[in-house]
Amino acid sequence: MNRFFITTPIYYVNAKPHLGHAYTTIVADALARFHALMGEEVYFLTGTDEHGDKIAEAAQKAGQTPKEYADAISGLFSALWPELGITPTRFIRTTDPDHRKAVQTALQRVYDKGDIYFGEYGGHYCKGCERFLTEKELVDGLCPDHKVKPEYIAEKNYFFRMSKYQGQLLAHIKANPDFIRPRQYRNEVVSLLESGALEDLCISRPKSRLTWGIELPFDTNFVTYVWFDALLNYLTAIGWPDDPDYASWWGVAEHLVAKDILKPHAVFWPTMLLSLGVPLYRHLNVHGYWLVRDTKMSKSLGNVVEPLAMAQKAGLSGMRYFLLREMVFGADASFTEEAFAGRFNADLANDLGNLANRSLAMTTKYFGGTLPEGGEDDAADAALATLAAEAVDNFLQLFGAAQFSRALEALWELVRGLNKYIDAMAPWTLAKEGRTARLGTVMAQALGGLRLAAACLLPVMPEAAATLLRQLGADPDAVSLAGPDRVFAPLPAGTAVAATSNLFPRLEAPAKEAAPAAAPKAKKAAKAEKKPAAKPEPAAEVDFEDFARLDLRVGVVVAAAPVPGADRLYAVSVDIGEAAPRPVVAGLAEHFVPDELVGRQVVLVANLKPRTLRGATSHGMILAVKSAAGMALLGPSKPVAPGDRVS
Ligand code: MSP
Repeated sequence: MNRFFITTPIYYVNAKPHLGHAYTTIVADALARFHALMGEEVYFLTGTDEHGDKIAEAAQKAGQTPKEYADAISGLFSALWPELGITPTRFIRTTDPDHRKAVQTALQRVYDKGDIYFGEYGGHYCKGCERFLTEKELVDGLCPDHKVKPEYIAEKNYFFRMSKYQGQLLAHIKANPDFIRPRQYRNEVVSLLESGALEDLCISRPKSRLTWGIELPFDTNFVTYVWFDALLNYLTAIGWPDDPDYASWWGVAEHLVAKDILKPHAVFWPTMLLSLGVPLYRHLNVHGYWLVRDTKMSKSLGNVVEPLAMAQKAGLSGMRYFLLREMVFGADASFTEEAFAGRFNADLANDLGNLANRSLAMTTKYFGGTLPEGGEDDAADAALATLAAEAVDNFLQLFGAAQFSRALEALWELVRGLNKYIDAMAPWTLAKEGRTARLGTVMAQALGGLRLAAACLLPVMPEAAATLLRQLGADPDAVSLAGPDRVFAPLPAGTAVAATSNLFPRLEAPAKEAAPAAAPKAKKAAKAEKKPAAKPEPAAEVDFEDFARLDLRVGVVVAAAPVPGADRLYAVSVDIGEAAPRPVVAGLAEHFVPDELVGRQVVLVANLKPRTLRGATSHGMILAVKSAAGMALLGPSKPVAPGDRVS
């Protein structure tokens, strides 16, 4: 069986987890779940980095011993992950006895090889980075990440001969273009290695200055430098050097980090491995920063988003989807509540949610919730199967290559394609015409496509995708993307589905920063002359200001039902991004069945004064064209966010 081994950075225990840590760990979790669904055996490693200056200092400030302090914060990380649907194989702590012992073994081996020497060094030490920064790395004398002036430290220490492996590392990176990905980070490391001689790495701290660390096995007056200790977790966790099984995991190791710790992972770590005689990892996957108003989200800058609060407010599945969909892997992304609500409402509430809601509701309405034997096929069914196969192939390939945003975009081709298929097949018309066999096929196709999308979404939103699969009569625990489940097929006859889905209720959009400018005061609107519909004549001209007084909005029809005692009227609910959908009474009943309207984007005159029609309130007007061909609704040519203004 193929194996897959994924790691996150082990996080410092000087601060509570925030959305940045959660992002990397959710990505690792999604990859672990993805590979498991592809039939592979998976090891997913995360944990905490607990030694070093930074932790010792934070513990002192908190009036605790470093271990007490580390226990408390490490506990926050390990308790948070299950709340976010994250299930690591091991949560390693650098204070774990097996890790400490293996770090000493590694140090001794590198020392015995002659790759460690004693010497004196002075340099600019950034506590935030826990490393010496080179002159070139400083920006205006400051650490570019932490915006503080590093401390100049000169002392006698042990050094790792990192420079010895510079050529070998460069050759490896050049021979394996995917070793560090995406490409911009590989290029950054190549130019660093080509730009001059690599310095050796100071790997000890004298106990006179710091005792909170792993003692050097060959000199008890020193503790190990925190990065030399921390990086080794990737090996020690899987049983290096004693466990004979470690090599089969190590052979498929992939690391996941943000760009802040590119150098330790792309330079320190591989040169350490070369010295130890251990093969290099398979991939280093590097992502950008989550920004808040153009600044990296970080505790020291005081602009963090608390992951649990966000998951509780917005739902875990929505949060995981947003994080994976919104950040182009490798680039920075901005976090705003508005972007979150916009993405959630457009992709989940509208596209996926509506697809699930309406296809389940129609199956219940037309077939009592159990799919009948299929009937006639149609060219549209073959086209749908082709679309599904392409979308899923692209999704699987891109997801496996850590291109999550593009992968989800590819999968949405299927989700949107299914909505279009339903619109084009018009099940409501088939029902009206009594074409029950064809109606059964259409519903089975739509639901089969939805089941395929839900299976692909299991790694991204484990909770919601599992619920959706159960609503479709499938067992989420039995799904595998290695076998027939990844192939599009109509849902089989006899499958019983849920009556409704309701997984992604719309989020209320947060208040926009600036209110739209008020329309200039207008002259009295000219009254359009009433003319018979058959021969419309141009209406009297109006000033632009008159036109601008109309507040036209795009909305989504969320419900439509006949108005009792009025044959032509429907009571329609239109979501225009307000707290509650707008009630609108519309003369559509002679032209559409309610299911045909639900999920459709329409244009609403939103500032029409409310009035009561046949006892029902109507607040707005849906724009439509009545022509010889029947009634056509106006709508945007591609989906836009409900509430967007028509201008
Ligand atoms: N302890 C070291 C890593 C040792 S690994 C052998 C460390 N810890 S950290 O707590 O500072 O975590 C850094 C990592 O947290 C980043 O590489 C990234 O995975 C995640 N992130 C922290 N802030 C982030 C953002 N604002 N945006 C994206 N990821 C963020 O470095």
